[in-house]
Amino acid sequence: MNLQVELASRKGSLILANPVMTASGTFSFGLEEGHAFNVQELGAIVTKTVTLRPRSGSPQPRTAETPAGMLNAIGLQNPGVDAVVRKMAPRWSRWRTPVIVSILGATVEEYGELAARLEGVEGVAAVEVNISSPNARRGGMEFGQEPDTAAAVTQAVVRNITLPVIVKLTPNVTDIADVARAVVESGADALCVINTLQAMAIDARSRRPAIASGFAGLSGPAIKPVALRMVYQVAAAVDAPIIGCGGIATGLDAVEFLLAGATAVQVGTATFANPRAPLDVLDGLRRFLDEEGVADIGELIGAAHERRPAESPATS
Ligand SMILES: Cc1cc2nc3c(=O)[nH]c(=O)nc-3n(C[C@H](O)[C@H](O)[C@H](O)COP(=O)(O)O)c2cc1C
Repeated sequence: MNLQVELASRKGSLILANPVMTASGTFSFGLEEGHAFNVQELGAIVTKTVTLRPRSGSPQPRTAETPAGMLNAIGLQNPGVDAVVRKMAPRWSRWRTPVIVSILGATVEEYGELAARLEGVEGVAAVEVNISSPNARRGGMEFGQEPDTAAAVTQAVVRNITLPVIVKLTPNVTDIADVARAVVESGADALCVINTLQAMAIDARSRRPAIASGFAGLSGPAIKPVALRMVYQVAAAVDAPIIGCGGIATGLDAVEFLLAGATAVQVGTATFANPRAPLDVLDGLRRFLDEEGVADIGELIGAAHERRPAESPATS
Protein backbone atom coordinates (compact mmCIF):
# COMPACT_ATOMS: atom_id res chain seq x y z
CA MET A 1 0.00 0.00 0.00
CA ASN A 2 1.52 3.34 -1.02
CA LEU A 3 0.73 6.23 1.33
CA GLN A 4 3.45 8.58 0.13
CA VAL A 5 2.39 12.01 -1.12
CA GLU A 6 4.23 14.99 -2.57
CA LEU A 7 3.37 18.54 -1.51
CA ALA A 8 6.04 20.38 -3.47
CA SER A 9 8.37 19.52 -6.31
CA ARG A 10 9.41 22.78 -7.94
CA LYS A 11 12.05 23.92 -5.46
CA GLY A 12 13.13 21.83 -2.49
CA SER A 13 10.75 18.92 -2.67
CA LEU A 14 8.43 18.02 0.17
CA ILE A 15 7.59 14.34 0.20
CA LEU A 16 5.60 12.88 3.10
CA ALA A 17 5.69 9.18 4.00
CA ASN A 18 1.94 9.46 4.62
CA PRO A 19 -0.61 12.29 4.29
CA VAL A 20 -1.43 12.89 7.97
CA MET A 21 -0.06 16.02 9.62
CA THR A 22 -0.74 17.99 12.78
CA ALA A 23 -2.52 21.36 12.44
CA SER A 24 -0.74 24.52 13.56
CA GLY A 25 -1.38 25.54 17.15
CA THR A 26 -2.71 22.18 18.29
CA PHE A 27 0.55 20.26 18.71
CA SER A 28 2.88 23.01 19.92
CA PHE A 29 6.36 22.36 18.43
CA GLY A 30 6.16 18.56 18.52
CA LEU A 31 8.86 18.41 21.17
CA GLU A 32 6.92 17.66 24.37
CA GLU A 33 7.99 14.50 26.14
CA GLY A 34 4.43 13.43 26.83
CA HIS A 35 3.07 12.97 23.30
CA ALA A 36 0.69 10.01 23.22
CA PHE A 37 2.45 8.44 20.22
CA ASN A 38 5.69 8.53 18.29
CA VAL A 39 5.59 11.84 16.44
CA GLN A 40 7.72 10.39 13.69
CA GLU A 41 4.92 8.09 12.55
CA LEU A 42 3.13 11.11 11.07
CA GLY A 43 3.63 12.51 7.59
CA ALA A 44 4.67 15.93 8.92
CA ILE A 45 4.39 18.27 11.89
CA VAL A 46 3.23 21.86 11.54
CA THR A 47 4.36 24.10 14.41
CA LYS A 48 2.44 26.71 16.34
CA THR A 49 2.55 29.96 14.35
CA VAL A 50 5.78 31.85 14.96
CA THR A 51 6.23 35.63 14.81
CA LEU A 52 9.35 37.81 14.57
CA ARG A 53 9.32 38.63 18.26
CA PRO A 54 8.05 36.50 21.18
CA ARG A 55 4.35 36.98 21.98
CA SER A 56 2.45 36.20 25.15
CA GLY A 57 -0.96 35.89 23.48
CA SER A 58 -4.41 37.20 24.33
CA PRO A 59 -5.94 37.68 27.80
CA GLN A 60 -7.88 34.82 29.46
CA PRO A 61 -10.40 33.35 28.95
CA ARG A 62 -9.34 32.51 25.43
CA THR A 63 -11.05 29.21 24.72
CA ALA A 64 -14.67 28.06 25.00
CA GLU A 65 -16.55 24.91 24.11
CA THR A 66 -19.39 24.99 21.60
CA PRO A 67 -21.69 22.21 20.40
CA ALA A 68 -19.48 20.10 18.10
CA GLY A 69 -16.52 22.43 18.23
CA MET A 70 -14.39 24.90 20.13
CA LEU A 71 -13.62 28.58 20.08
CA ASN A 72 -10.10 29.87 20.53
CA ALA A 73 -8.43 33.24 20.65
CA ILE A 74 -4.99 32.16 21.84
CA GLY A 75 -3.52 35.19 20.09
CA LEU A 76 -0.40 33.52 18.68
CA GLN A 77 1.52 32.94 21.88
CA ASN A 78 5.01 31.82 20.79
CA PRO A 79 8.69 32.25 21.69
CA GLY A 80 9.63 34.14 18.50
CA VAL A 81 11.44 32.90 15.39
CA ASP A 82 14.99 33.21 16.75
CA ALA A 83 14.29 30.88 19.69
CA VAL A 84 12.73 28.41 17.29
CA VAL A 85 15.79 28.47 15.04
CA ARG A 86 18.27 28.22 17.95
CA LYS A 87 16.57 25.79 20.31
CA MET A 88 14.10 23.71 18.34
CA ALA A 89 15.37 23.27 14.78
CA PRO A 90 18.54 21.38 15.88
CA ARG A 91 16.29 18.75 17.48
CA TRP A 92 14.05 18.51 14.41
CA SER A 93 17.08 18.04 12.18
CA ARG A 94 17.53 14.57 13.69
CA TRP A 95 13.99 13.51 12.72
CA ARG A 96 12.89 11.75 9.57
CA THR A 97 9.49 13.49 9.78
CA PRO A 98 9.52 16.90 8.09
CA VAL A 99 8.75 19.88 10.33
CA ILE A 100 6.91 22.77 8.74
CA VAL A 101 7.18 26.11 10.54
CA SER A 102 4.07 28.29 10.50
CA ILE A 103 4.82 32.02 10.22
CA LEU A 104 2.84 35.24 10.64
CA GLY A 105 3.95 38.82 10.11
CA ALA A 106 2.33 42.11 11.12
CA THR A 107 3.33 43.55 7.72
CA VAL A 108 4.16 42.15 4.28
CA GLU A 109 7.83 42.95 4.98
CA GLU A 110 7.74 41.01 8.24
CA TYR A 111 6.58 37.90 6.38
CA GLY A 112 9.59 38.28 4.08
CA GLU A 113 11.89 38.76 7.09
CA LEU A 114 10.54 35.62 8.78
CA ALA A 115 11.16 33.61 5.60
CA ALA A 116 14.72 34.94 5.41
CA ARG A 117 15.41 33.90 9.02
CA LEU A 118 14.25 30.34 8.26
CA GLU A 119 16.13 30.01 4.98
CA GLY A 120 18.83 27.33 5.17
CA VAL A 121 17.97 26.34 8.74
CA GLU A 122 18.58 22.65 9.15
CA GLY A 123 15.54 20.88 10.57
CA VAL A 124 13.02 23.15 8.84
CA ALA A 125 11.48 21.40 5.83
CA ALA A 126 9.01 24.07 4.65
CA VAL A 127 7.05 27.09 5.83
CA GLU A 128 3.29 27.44 6.21
CA VAL A 129 2.29 31.06 5.73
CA ASN A 130 -0.52 31.98 8.09
CA ILE A 131 -2.61 34.65 6.36
CA SER A 132 -5.71 33.33 8.04
CA SER A 133 -5.52 33.77 11.80
CA PRO A 134 -8.57 35.56 13.16
CA ASN A 135 -6.63 36.15 16.39
CA ALA A 136 -3.84 38.46 15.20
CA ARG A 137 -4.46 42.12 15.91
CA ARG A 138 -2.29 43.01 12.92
CA GLY A 139 -1.55 40.62 10.06
CA GLY A 140 -3.13 37.20 9.80
CA MET A 141 -6.62 37.02 8.40
CA GLU A 142 -6.67 40.57 7.02
CA PHE A 143 -3.90 39.51 4.57
CA GLY A 144 -5.83 36.46 3.47
CA GLN A 145 -9.14 38.15 2.75
CA GLU A 146 -8.08 40.04 -0.30
CA PRO A 147 -6.40 38.36 -3.33
CA ASP A 148 -3.91 41.22 -3.95
CA THR A 149 -2.63 41.31 -0.37
CA ALA A 150 -2.50 37.52 -0.21
CA ALA A 151 -0.41 37.61 -3.39
CA ALA A 152 1.92 40.28 -1.97
CA VAL A 153 2.58 38.24 1.18
CA THR A 154 3.20 35.08 -0.86
CA GLN A 155 5.66 36.90 -3.12
CA ALA A 156 7.52 38.35 -0.14
CA VAL A 157 7.96 34.86 1.33
CA VAL A 158 8.84 33.11 -1.95
CA ARG A 159 11.49 35.76 -2.73
CA ASN A 160 13.26 35.12 0.57
CA ILE A 161 13.27 31.35 0.83
CA THR A 162 14.13 28.35 -1.31
CA LEU A 163 12.13 25.95 0.88
CA PRO A 164 8.62 24.90 -0.19
CA VAL A 165 5.95 27.45 0.69
CA ILE A 166 2.47 26.42 1.85
CA VAL A 167 -0.11 29.19 2.26
CA LYS A 168 -2.93 28.66 4.75
CA LEU A 169 -6.21 30.21 3.65
CA THR A 170 -9.04 31.67 5.69
CA PRO A 171 -12.66 30.59 5.21
CA ASN A 172 -13.77 34.10 6.19
CA VAL A 173 -14.01 35.32 2.59
CA THR A 174 -16.59 35.68 -0.14
CA ASP A 175 -14.73 33.51 -2.66
CA ILE A 176 -11.87 31.34 -1.43
CA ALA A 177 -11.04 30.26 -5.01
CA ASP A 178 -10.07 33.85 -5.91
CA VAL A 179 -7.55 34.00 -3.07
CA ALA A 180 -6.28 30.50 -3.89
CA ARG A 181 -5.61 31.48 -7.51
CA ALA A 182 -3.77 34.67 -6.51
CA VAL A 183 -1.56 32.80 -4.05
CA VAL A 184 -0.67 29.97 -6.47
CA GLU A 185 0.09 32.46 -9.25
CA SER A 186 2.44 34.19 -6.80
CA GLY A 187 4.52 31.05 -6.33
CA ALA A 188 2.96 29.07 -3.47
CA ASP A 189 3.78 25.38 -3.76
CA ALA A 190 0.75 24.17 -1.80
CA LEU A 191 -2.31 25.46 0.05
CA CYS A 192 -3.75 24.61 3.44
CA VAL A 193 -7.56 24.88 3.51
CA ILE A 194 -8.88 26.04 6.07
CA ASN A 195 -8.12 27.99 9.23
CA THR A 196 -10.88 28.70 11.77
CA LEU A 197 -14.20 30.44 11.10
CA GLN A 198 -14.61 33.72 12.92
CA ALA A 199 -17.22 33.31 15.64
CA MET A 200 -18.14 34.26 19.19
CA ALA A 201 -19.86 33.10 22.37
CA ILE A 202 -21.73 35.22 24.92
CA ASP A 203 -22.10 34.37 28.58
CA ALA A 204 -25.76 34.94 29.46
CA ARG A 205 -25.10 35.47 33.19
CA SER A 206 -22.31 38.00 32.88
CA ARG A 207 -23.89 39.45 29.71
CA ARG A 208 -20.41 39.68 28.20
CA PRO A 209 -18.51 37.88 25.43
CA ALA A 210 -17.28 34.53 26.80
CA ILE A 211 -13.85 35.07 25.20
CA ALA A 212 -11.94 38.04 26.62
CA SER A 213 -10.93 39.43 23.24
CA GLY A 214 -14.49 39.18 21.89
CA PHE A 215 -14.29 37.25 18.63
CA ALA A 216 -12.57 33.89 18.27
CA GLY A 217 -11.95 31.09 15.77
CA LEU A 218 -14.37 28.16 15.53
CA SER A 219 -12.85 24.71 14.87
CA GLY A 220 -13.73 21.04 15.24
CA PRO A 221 -16.47 18.80 13.76
CA ALA A 222 -18.83 21.79 13.33
CA ILE A 223 -16.66 23.23 10.55
CA LYS A 224 -15.92 20.00 8.66
CA PRO A 225 -18.64 20.39 5.99
CA VAL A 226 -17.49 23.97 5.32
CA ALA A 227 -13.85 22.91 5.06
CA LEU A 228 -14.76 20.03 2.76
CA ARG A 229 -16.73 22.34 0.45
CA MET A 230 -13.83 24.78 0.32
CA VAL A 231 -11.25 22.08 -0.46
CA TYR A 232 -13.52 20.86 -3.25
CA GLN A 233 -13.88 24.40 -4.59
CA VAL A 234 -10.15 25.22 -4.40
CA ALA A 235 -9.21 21.88 -6.01
CA ALA A 236 -11.35 22.81 -9.00
CA ALA A 237 -9.76 26.27 -9.20
CA VAL A 238 -6.00 25.64 -8.92
CA ASP A 239 -3.43 23.10 -9.95
CA ALA A 240 -1.49 22.81 -6.69
CA PRO A 241 -1.51 20.32 -3.82
CA ILE A 242 -4.06 21.10 -1.09
CA ILE A 243 -3.84 20.16 2.57
CA GLY A 244 -7.35 19.71 3.95
CA CYS A 245 -7.99 20.89 7.50
CA GLY A 246 -11.13 21.37 9.58
CA GLY A 247 -12.86 18.92 11.88
CA ILE A 248 -10.87 15.85 10.85
CA ALA A 249 -11.00 13.22 13.61
CA THR A 250 -11.16 9.82 11.86
CA GLY A 251 -9.69 7.98 8.92
CA LEU A 252 -13.00 8.33 7.08
CA ASP A 253 -12.92 12.11 7.56
CA ALA A 254 -9.48 12.11 5.96
CA VAL A 255 -10.74 9.99 3.05
CA GLU A 256 -13.54 12.50 2.42
CA PHE A 257 -11.01 15.35 2.18
CA LEU A 258 -8.80 13.33 -0.19
CA LEU A 259 -11.81 12.62 -2.40
CA ALA A 260 -12.61 16.36 -2.39
CA GLY A 261 -9.13 17.01 -3.78
CA ALA A 262 -6.76 17.21 -0.81
CA THR A 263 -3.35 15.57 -1.11
CA ALA A 264 -2.80 15.57 2.66
CA VAL A 265 -4.76 16.38 5.83
CA GLN A 266 -4.13 18.12 9.13
CA VAL A 267 -5.64 17.08 12.46
CA GLY A 268 -6.22 19.88 14.98
CA THR A 269 -8.99 20.16 17.58
CA ALA A 270 -9.53 16.38 17.68
CA THR A 271 -6.15 16.11 19.44
CA PHE A 272 -7.49 17.92 22.52
CA ALA A 273 -10.16 15.27 23.20
CA ASN A 274 -8.01 12.39 21.97
CA PRO A 275 -4.24 12.94 22.12
CA ARG A 276 -3.75 10.00 19.71
CA ALA A 277 -6.12 11.50 17.11
CA PRO A 278 -3.52 12.09 14.34
CA LEU A 279 -2.33 8.48 14.62
CA ASP A 280 -5.92 7.19 14.80
CA VAL A 281 -6.66 9.10 11.58
CA LEU A 282 -3.64 7.46 9.93
CA ASP A 283 -4.64 3.98 11.16
CA GLY A 284 -8.22 4.53 9.96
CA LEU A 285 -6.97 5.68 6.58
CA ARG A 286 -4.83 2.56 6.22
CA ARG A 287 -7.80 0.38 7.18
CA PHE A 288 -10.01 2.08 4.58
CA LEU A 289 -7.45 1.54 1.81
CA ASP A 290 -7.09 -2.07 2.84
CA GLU A 291 -10.86 -2.71 2.96
CA GLU A 292 -11.44 -0.98 -0.37
CA GLY A 293 -8.46 -2.63 -2.07
CA VAL A 294 -6.80 0.70 -2.87
CA ALA A 295 -3.10 0.14 -3.57
CA ASP A 296 -2.09 3.79 -3.93
CA ILE A 297 -3.51 6.73 -2.00
CA GLY A 298 -3.22 8.80 -5.18
CA GLU A 299 -6.28 6.96 -6.51
CA LEU A 300 -8.46 8.76 -3.96
CA ILE A 301 -7.19 12.32 -4.47
CA GLY A 302 -9.89 14.37 -6.20
CA ALA A 303 -11.90 11.27 -7.12
CA ALA A 304 -15.19 12.90 -6.04
CA HIS A 305 -14.78 15.41 -8.87
CA GLU A 306 -15.10 12.87 -11.63
CA ARG A 307 -18.77 12.48 -10.93
CA ARG A 308 -19.72 16.06 -10.09
CA PRO A 309 -17.69 19.02 -11.31
CA ALA A 310 -17.17 21.78 -8.77
CA GLU A 311 -18.45 24.33 -11.28
CA SER A 312 -22.03 23.09 -11.02
CA PRO A 313 -24.22 25.75 -9.41
CA ALA A 314 -24.94 25.53 -5.71
CA THR A 315 -28.41 24.43 -4.69
CA SER A 316 -30.39 26.47 -2.23
C1 LIG B 1 -6.21 26.12 20.18
C2 LIG B 1 -5.96 26.36 18.71
C3 LIG B 1 -4.85 27.11 18.33
C4 LIG B 1 -4.59 27.34 16.98
N1 LIG B 1 -3.48 28.02 16.61
C5 LIG B 1 -3.21 28.20 15.29
C6 LIG B 1 -2.02 28.85 14.88
O1 LIG B 1 -1.16 29.26 15.69
N2 LIG B 1 -1.81 29.01 13.55
C7 LIG B 1 -2.68 28.55 12.59
O2 LIG B 1 -2.43 28.71 11.40
N3 LIG B 1 -3.82 27.90 12.96
C8 LIG B 1 -4.08 27.73 14.28
N4 LIG B 1 -5.22 27.06 14.64
C9 LIG B 1 -6.14 26.57 13.60
C10 LIG B 1 -5.89 25.09 13.27
O3 LIG B 1 -4.58 24.87 12.81
C11 LIG B 1 -6.89 24.59 12.21
O4 LIG B 1 -6.71 25.30 11.02
C12 LIG B 1 -8.34 24.76 12.65
O5 LIG B 1 -8.48 24.55 14.04
C13 LIG B 1 -9.29 23.82 11.91
O6 LIG B 1 -8.92 22.47 12.08
P1 LIG B 1 -9.55 21.53 13.27
O7 LIG B 1 -11.03 21.66 13.17
O8 LIG B 1 -9.05 20.15 12.96
O9 LIG B 1 -9.01 22.07 14.54
C14 LIG B 1 -5.48 26.82 15.99
C15 LIG B 1 -6.60 26.08 16.40
C16 LIG B 1 -6.85 25.84 17.74
C17 LIG B 1 -8.06 25.04 18.13
